[in-house]
Amino acid sequence: MRMTHKSLSQWLIGIVLAAYSVASPASDVEVLHWWTSAGEAKAASVLRKGIEQQGHQWQDFAVGGRAGISAMNTLRIRAISGNPPLAAQIKGPEITEWARLGFLRNLDDIAEAEHWEEKIPAPLRDVMQYQGSYVAAPINIHRVNWLWVNLRAFEAANADIPTDFASFFAAADKLQQAGYTPLALGGEPWQVATLFDSLALSVLGPQDYQRAFLDFDRKALLSDDVVKAFTLLARMRQYVDDSGQGRNWSDTTRLLIDNQAGMQVMGDWAKGEFFAANQQEGKAFTCVAFPGTKNAFSYNVDSFVFFKPNSQSERQSQTDIASYLLTPQFQRDFNRYKGSLPIRFDVPLPKGDRCAQQSRDAFIYAQENGTLSPSMSHGLSTTRYVQSAVFDVINEFFYNPKQTPREATEALYRAILSAQA
Ligand code: GAL
Repeated sequence: MRMTHKSLSQWLIGIVLAAYSVASPASDVEVLHWWTSAGEAKAASVLRKGIEQQGHQWQDFAVGGRAGISAMNTLRIRAISGNPPLAAQIKGPEITEWARLGFLRNLDDIAEAEHWEEKIPAPLRDVMQYQGSYVAAPINIHRVNWLWVNLRAFEAANADIPTDFASFFAAADKLQQAGYTPLALGGEPWQVATLFDSLALSVLGPQDYQRAFLDFDRKALLSDDVVKAFTLLARMRQYVDDSGQGRNWSDTTRLLIDNQAGMQVMGDWAKGEFFAANQQEGKAFTCVAFPGTKNAFSYNVDSFVFFKPNSQSERQSQTDIASYLLTPQFQRDFNRYKGSLPIRFDVPLPKGDRCAQQSRDAFIYAQENGTLSPSMSHGLSTTRYVQSAVFDVINEFFYNPKQTPREATEALYRAILSAQA
């Protein structure tokens, strides 16, 4: 059969297109994360758009819930079966674990080309490295030790914004009398642990907190201060509502947004939730450092790792994403929705966002004064094995009024010892 001019050109176009699709960097980019709440999803869509603008297809691998615990369980299964996603949100010492097992791509070429050394604050660089090489790209800094305040409830109850425990409990009593749930708390182990985390930071102070939850120092862990932190936790029981068990964190923030509860102790991803609900800081809500932690900064850094690629095009996609994560535009737009600080301090904060400004000031102060503390409850101070043992003890104590604070302190120490073994 003779080929017509038309069919020949179609054939040629076909070949060119086929060749292009093999050589083209455009590929499906599967990204694991757990950002499924309203504010988180807005932030995640900034990432998605950025990746799509580079010509890649975003394949969403979102596993919401339990601040990433569910996502990490799913990731393990995928990785063990030899099919990890191209990129995944992994944090803290767990990054090192994955790197040690040989799963992660070395990012030194990108770090060098993009001058990460100048862009990432010094104390956070180590977390991103394994044996001196970058294996993760950080995107933000969340402050964990925040108290979120529903201003309408405080006004109705004629309560003052707490600065210490005396004013915290005074406000809680007033809110209760005015018919509000004083403290919104989702009864999931990680949320109770987030509350305990701030209590421990407050009572122990940053130095002893680090001795206890970073170095697992026996003396610090068995100290009267830890007993005191548990005592305060027990006192909080009477201020939370009865239907909190199993409630996720964003539905818990909802209680403040809907003017049913007065306060929540949560990292500043909660701010993303207020903003997503069109609430204005200073009018509907505000933020204040958790009592006694004004000068401390409990940090939680979100970061992405990249699993070893199977092809040149996968590698190129990873390079594109990793380079994009530290651009000023992504840093600005993503963190505005996420409630976090950009990892780059040369990126301006959103105008009028006083919580972000306070957070940055607190970070700088803490960095200069050695009070920066990796958050235990968000996996920055330890791996998930130790972390989940700690969660169990805190949760058990909170829901079992028969256990004494001293018993809980000893149980905590034992749990940490055996999880490390
Ligand atoms: C944290 C995570 C944040 C946040 C939160 C709740 O561990 O670092 O990015 O979104 O969980 O999902």
